[in-house]
Amino acid sequence: MLIEEVSINPTSLTANSCDPDELKRLTTQILDPNKELKDLIPQATALRDLFETRTNFRTDTGQDIGAGQTRLESGLAISPALAAMCIRELFRTLAFIRGLHEAINDAATSQRPVRVLYAGCGPYALLALPLMTVLPRERVTFTLLDIHAECLDKARALIDSFGLSHFVDEFVCADATRHQIPKDKLPGVIVSETMAVALHNEPQVTIARRLLAQAPAALMVPQSVSIEVCMINWSREHVFMPADFVGEFPEPDRDRIYLGKIFELDAANIKEWEGITGDTLPAGTVKIPLPLERKYKPYLLTNIAVYGKNHLKNYDCSLTVPQRLRGKIEAGDELQFYYQLGNNPQLNYEIVTTVSDQYAGK
Ligand SMILES: C[S@@+](CC[C@H](N)C(=O)[O-])C[C@H]1O[C@@H](n2cnc3c(N)ncnc32)[C@H](O)[C@@H]1O
Repeated sequence: MLIEEVSINPTSLTANSCDPDELKRLTTQILDPNKELKDLIPQATALRDLFETRTNFRTDTGQDIGAGQTRLESGLAISPALAAMCIRELFRTLAFIRGLHEAINDAATSQRPVRVLYAGCGPYALLALPLMTVLPRERVTFTLLDIHAECLDKARALIDSFGLSHFVDEFVCADATRHQIPKDKLPGVIVSETMAVALHNEPQVTIARRLLAQAPAALMVPQSVSIEVCMINWSREHVFMPADFVGEFPEPDRDRIYLGKIFELDAANIKEWEGITGDTLPAGTVKIPLPLERKYKPYLLTNIAVYGKNHLKNYDCSLTVPQRLRGKIEAGDELQFYYQLGNNPQLNYEIVTTVSDQYAGK
């Protein structure tokens, strides 16, 4: 991916860097339960600016932002530069910070701090660091884990720059899909955002399975990632307004036929899949309606229940944009889905019954 040069230089963190007040102010606003995600765009933008300025993150033409990525047996661990750029997904970032806060509160006990295992923390420890300004240290402690040492070094420098390193119990450079959680460090919350749209390509599923198997009582953030199949009439999917339009955009009057949920990554299913050692996980079946007008095409829709009241719906971020289902699919076909594990994980399907089968009485 050759678009822009990116550099994150932890040594250039601003000298006057022990003041977490601005971060605390933003975090307090981000956590305001009376605000919706769309009300918090200025705060998410300010958070991005704060972290990018502090780490001297730049994008200029000419450099490979994918450099340093790692293709694991369980999927792609994206490069440190691309992981840094996740902060620009404003709704995603807001929903995950709010969701993690809610999960920590739910996991809290009076006896000891909630231990949060953050698998794939990236160079900003973005989902955890803001919370360190608003939670008492007696209440929470973080283990920050990433496969890329560069991410951990940068996260450590950034956290230090706010004077918040006492919140981090340990920085672990490891593959989360192989990580053995020490018995005396079982987390109360596991957070990981190591996914792409439709759980394609990145190792979220294997990470969640591996870590939750070791800490079954832990609360998981995201709580659930589910995928459904839907027939979409694309001409009604978006509202196009003139370039000089001012005011609130009208809601599109979408024309969709929902065919059902086919896959869900959540604690209940992870438990259900416990005995599965092969390279696929079961998924659902859908039938393409018959007859079907040509205007409808099949899509995968991703819905993310981050935690509690925090959800990411279609188009909220790149992770929830509808994905066209490829292949020669006809009205009347029955599609049997399965989740293919491995170095390029994804949902696949087989056509188990076609219209001609049905006419032939199969
Ligand atoms: C999508 S980025 C998210 C960064 C940050 N958590 C955020 O939300 O902005 C995913 C991060 O997970 C790390 N990662 C991906 N797969 C991993 C694995 N199997 N073990 C450890 N880290 C992994 C990548 O190096 C990257 O830093």
